[in-house]
Amino acid sequence: MRKKLQFVVTAGPTREYIDPVRFLSNPSTGKMGFAVARAAAARGHAVTLVAGPVSLPTPKGVSRVDVTSARDMLAAVASAVKAAPDAVLVAAAAVADWRPASCAAKKLKKSRMSGVLRLVRNPDILMSVKTSVKVGFAAETDNVMKEAARKLREKGLAMIVANDVTEDGAGFGTDTNRVALLRGDGSVERLPMMAKLAVARRIVRACEDICP
Ligand code: PMT
Repeated sequence: MRKKLQFVVTAGPTREYIDPVRFLSNPSTGKMGFAVARAAAARGHAVTLVAGPVSLPTPKGVSRVDVTSARDMLAAVASAVKAAPDAVLVAAAAVADWRPASCAAKKLKKSRMSGVLRLVRNPDILMSVKTSVKVGFAAETDNVMKEAARKLREKGLAMIVANDVTEDGAGFGTDTNRVALLRGDGSVERLPMMAKLAVARRIVRACEDICP
């Protein structure tokens, strides 16, 4: 019988507010992360999905926590992992690496803005959270495999999904994706272009192999 796992999946972008009506973000729609959550639930695993601001329905059988900023996402992931220390964390979210040093309480008047925005680093969620198995994604525009291998090593991951976001039909907002799976044991599996749900199924199966 297949072992039931606990998955914590991050998806979508984060928003880093400058004032109540302006923010820094990126084009992630959450499709890839939601597909991973759906595929894991369909395999009978327990899934907590931590979602940035996206407009997607919650996949069947998935418990969802909505967040806005990277720091909110870290708090939600830390809480989910505290409740399930053996969880497999799959980080498909495109987390903002930087946030404005401060967020104004009221809309800033453009006539009074200097044109310079001071930024501070956001925490790295994958590196901040302790859990038994961590799987990351690497969204890259150049040196894709090299950068993915570096992130696999530096973030202490069991596997990373290398995603060339410059390729047609792959990356942000598409219904398809073309990725390579790089494992901690050095193996590399290049997948053909396929629906994000099919990619997600391959990722979930790979996680099952990592946690026999
Ligand atoms: O949402 P879609 O429109 O379907 O698009 C899918 C996707 C392109 C967003 C997805 O396939 C993808 O590649 N997600 C990772 C995007 C990303 O931010 O990659 P990165 O190389 O910057 O980050 C590396 C890893 O560290 C990622 O797993 C990321 O979630 C994680 N990270 C990054 C920054 C941070 N502060 N904390 C993190 O945990």
